[in-house]
Amino acid sequence: MSKVWPTSLPDRDWQFKQKESVHDLLSRMTLAEKVGQMTQVEKNSISPEEVTEYAIGSVLSGGGGNPMPNMPQEWADMVHGFKEAARKTRLGIPLIYGVDAIHGHNNVVGATIFPHNIGLGATRDADLVEQIGRITATELVATGVRWTFAPCVAVPHDLRWGRTYEGYSEDTNLVAELGAACVRGLQNTHGAQAVLSCPKHYVGDGATTWGSGRSYDWIIEQWPAADHDWPIDQGISEVDEATLRAKHISPYIAAIEAGAMSIMVSYSSWDGAKLHAHKYLLTDVLKNEIGFHGFLVSDWMAIDQIDPDYYTCVVASINAGLDMIMVPFNFRRCVSTLTQAVENGDVPLERINDAVARILTVKFALGLFDEPSRNEHPISDIGAESHRQVAREAVRKSLVVLKNDDHTLPVPRNMKQILVAGQAADDIGLQCGGWTIEWMGKPGHSTPGTTLLTAIRGVVSPDTTIDYSPDGHFRGADEMAEIGLVVLSESPYAEGTGDRADLTLSAADVALIERVRPHCQQLVVILFSGRPLIITDHLEKFDAFIAAWLPGTEGQGIADVLFGDYPFTGRLAYSWPKRMNQIPLKGMAESGEDPLFPFGFGLA
Ligand code: GLC
Repeated sequence: MSKVWPTSLPDRDWQFKQKESVHDLLSRMTLAEKVGQMTQVEKNSISPEEVTEYAIGSVLSGGGGNPMPNMPQEWADMVHGFKEAARKTRLGIPLIYGVDAIHGHNNVVGATIFPHNIGLGATRDADLVEQIGRITATELVATGVRWTFAPCVAVPHDLRWGRTYEGYSEDTNLVAELGAACVRGLQNTHGAQAVLSCPKHYVGDGATTWGSGRSYDWIIEQWPAADHDWPIDQGISEVDEATLRAKHISPYIAAIEAGAMSIMVSYSSWDGAKLHAHKYLLTDVLKNEIGFHGFLVSDWMAIDQIDPDYYTCVVASINAGLDMIMVPFNFRRCVSTLTQAVENGDVPLERINDAVARILTVKFALGLFDEPSRNEHPISDIGAESHRQVAREAVRKSLVVLKNDDHTLPVPRNMKQILVAGQAADDIGLQCGGWTIEWMGKPGHSTPGTTLLTAIRGVVSPDTTIDYSPDGHFRGADEMAEIGLVVLSESPYAEGTGDRADLTLSAADVALIERVRPHCQQLVVILFSGRPLIITDHLEKFDAFIAAWLPGTEGQGIADVLFGDYPFTGRLAYSWPKRMNQIPLKGMAESGEDPLFPFGFGLA
């Protein structure tokens, strides 16, 4: 494969000028400075002064790694502080700050929050995904952030996985198309400051087998309430190489062709080895065969899983082809261990030089060496109305109508009475899902936005009575309301905390539906979820059913289609199973039954 350079660069001969710069700079760097460039530290574990002292090349905010107060200006000030610290080092090599902006600049209160990837998959709209990438880049740059750990180009095969919603689809081609669009949007900002994309998690993160995961004690310390037994996340991908290449590696090729210059390695394992120590897949396949010329970054504390001995972890991962180590906590141990490994000859100096050259190449490609100290986009770009309108369009296009008996939808706006039930109808946190403000997200008014209930209130006629009850208790009205609307949701989760053995609708949700049913002529159910849930036994209780996925802050987009201002156009990006025995996808085929709704289904 020919070496691909990002098309966002000003000109094509840049690469020759830049190569001289990289090799010139590399020749002047000490081992300590090289090791510093290969070390990425979580912002809560390092001070700006230590960034200068150790010549650290990158700092990140993990999910929820926010400044206090969590506001755009505080973000810009925090990031600026770390960047200034790097400028004070002997060589002044610029620092790159990374975050998980996976559905907008989602850590920041006030940012535009877009539908999660499972909803974008249902839009089938690559141009829209590219536009979302560009808007996200604008809001990131407004806070000085030039790297996002996105897009996730997993191809999930098991809906029980807590990261299903981070995947665009079960279909590789759709994942490849939309992943590449996101990369272009983030990086090709037409002259404006690009944001480095980071397709993840290479490779086979979505192919792991249920039961092959494990429990993580460190989760208990950090998140005592979170489930720390993760049966499938970070497990073992039991697919043959042909399948791994065809289904799971191909989205990375599309992303690299779109200009991706960093890739995050997966926690998972394949063919008996952790990906973070997999020289064949990291170096032989990705770097040498495919021609990936950017750099590989580890996942959060991921190298620690390779072996009980940390020295072995560092040596195995760097020699396998890892270029930058993400260190959430003890960066001094990482720096001293890698330095020791080079001095002992266990990690060859040419491997270090290759890793640093890759990192510097990307920093030159992004223009970080010429980056002005003031952020190119104003803070006011964050959450701008024009951005929210694009998010609203994405919500509209992401909704999938799976049932619509007797033309229940669209709902008339001049009804006498509409009943609205379910906490999720008026809860931005439930509407956004995980990776929103906090790592796992959180219910409640976590960030500015429009809930579905607020949107409904703005659409229906003034003569319409809207009765809202989070728990669906409506006084026995003398006559039935024309429409009952029940909004169901999963509780927010992230990663393995969302691994769930049973995806059937909860008893509480069924009770809510049954409580509202007698009070309305037609019942509409809307589901906020990170994946299809098993609703087969209850579907006959409602007249219309809309899968809304995790729409984000712009609930107006739901009202737009609910009341008919726009058509329903969404199509399932994942097969919708009838029963648990149709999960994972292999079970679907073996069950001898059709899914409840097939991939691509959606009523207009
Ligand atoms: C997490 C996730 C990864 C994320 C990283 C930094 O564990 O696996 O997707 O980018 O840590 O937050």
